[in-house]
Amino acid sequence: MLPNKRGMTDGPTSKTLKLHVKTFGCQMNVYDSERMAEALAPAGYALTEEMDDADLVILNTCHIREKAAEKVYSELGRVRQMKETRASGGKETMVAVAGCVAQAEGAEIMRRANVVDLVVGPQSYHQLPDLVAKARGASGVLATDFPTEDKFDHLPARTMKRALPSAFVTVQEGCDKFCTFCVVPYTRGAEFSRPVSQLVQETESLAQGGVREITLLGQNVNAYHGEGPDGKDWSLADLLRRLAEIPGIERLRYTTSHPRDMADDLIAVHGDEPKVMPYLHLPFQAGADRMLKAMNRKHTAEEYRELIGRIRAARPDIALSTDIIVGFPGETDADFEETVALVREIGFAQAFSFKYSARPGTPASTLEDQVPEEAKKERLRVLQDVIEDERKRFEQALVGRTVPVLFERKGRKPGQIAGRSPYLQAVHSEGPESLLGEIVEVDITAAGPNSLTGVINSGFAWDDRVQPAV
Ligand code: 5AD
Ligand code: SF4
Repeated sequence: MLPNKRGMTDGPTSKTLKLHVKTFGCQMNVYDSERMAEALAPAGYALTEEMDDADLVILNTCHIREKAAEKVYSELGRVRQMKETRASGGKETMVAVAGCVAQAEGAEIMRRANVVDLVVGPQSYHQLPDLVAKARGASGVLATDFPTEDKFDHLPARTMKRALPSAFVTVQEGCDKFCTFCVVPYTRGAEFSRPVSQLVQETESLAQGGVREITLLGQNVNAYHGEGPDGKDWSLADLLRRLAEIPGIERLRYTTSHPRDMADDLIAVHGDEPKVMPYLHLPFQAGADRMLKAMNRKHTAEEYRELIGRIRAARPDIALSTDIIVGFPGETDADFEETVALVREIGFAQAFSFKYSARPGTPASTLEDQVPEEAKKERLRVLQDVIEDERKRFEQALVGRTVPVLFERKGRKPGQIAGRSPYLQAVHSEGPESLLGEIVEVDITAAGPNSLTGVINSGFAWDDRVQPAV
């Protein structure tokens, strides 16, 4: 096979090409980055941590807020320098932009940044080997159409060697909710659920590779309604129960959910399926009904409260997490106070809060009474203090308790290992590396700013866990 003008060969090659993927944004992008690397492996690409070493650099981008989108252009500045340095050493570098900025601003990227060889939208990742080949020698390839075929049918199996016992599986993409502030319905398109059989297969192969915990991902994951093996639509609850049967899978999580899709069968799963972890990320965005209506959230504050009551009745110790926006157009101090009051009332274990950011093409971006930046900043500061208080309270309540921890990696200090509690906090403990990938009972001794500290419960033997309690 002859090298082309960029020094690359077409198709599989004896020389390994290096691929660097830089991921921005949400967990769906983390998952997509892994799938892109898997798609490119048969074309001879192996991952590298070092961008400077890479023959192909992919920036997997996020468009959710203005700041996130801006990062792409500043990163492209750095990539340009790197490409020039490599070129002066006789090395060619191909640059691709993927993800939601690619989808939303593909043509604009091509115009503004001629360092970019390829722009690829999230629905075309299975075509990457062909697109990369096409982009060689071409003056720039744009692939942001929504192809008719399902990319998941064409992506290779999850064969990549994995360092962690925890993995993501995207089960659903897109969103039909159309919250007025949000770009997702435009960048990720209409809601689509993957069939159950495909997800069982993917989860089984992850379990065989040593994965113990799966987080099911979707922009609106609890709207999942994939085709079941019986030909009927299965709910997220049905899917969770099926995946819980897979040998080796010990923990299941899912994110992100919409309050309107929190069905009774899903709430029930939290009460009776022990593999479903007691953690739920359920964005409410704002506490004032006036704002919720303007946001097209399709729920009121009271409905959210009532829903949380039902979830806690099913699983009293559940750790709740949420997303909140401050400074949506028209938000007054009184509206904001309702947000703060709801946060205090619910007592979240974790919450993510954002200043409203006008996104092009969304209905809210053209509303007149935009909130001044200073007011947004101040509200965010006040809210984050309250959130931090709640988080500390939740974590402090775990001190003195014993919780099962899935150990995932070496800790910061020598001799330490680190993992996650069922409630998703990071937990550090002294312990042997042989426990990585295992679930071990840990006595929590302290709650720090970023993680819990504990001592491995000495009375505990791993095999005890799999015996039914008598
Ligand atoms: N401005 C600020 N925050 C936003 N989010 C989504 N769109 C915007 C926006 N335009 C937040 C929401 C969502 C989370 C992923 O990002 O809180 O739940
Ligand atoms: Fe965006 Fe979530 Fe609303 Fe869908 S439900 S439009 S993803 S904020």
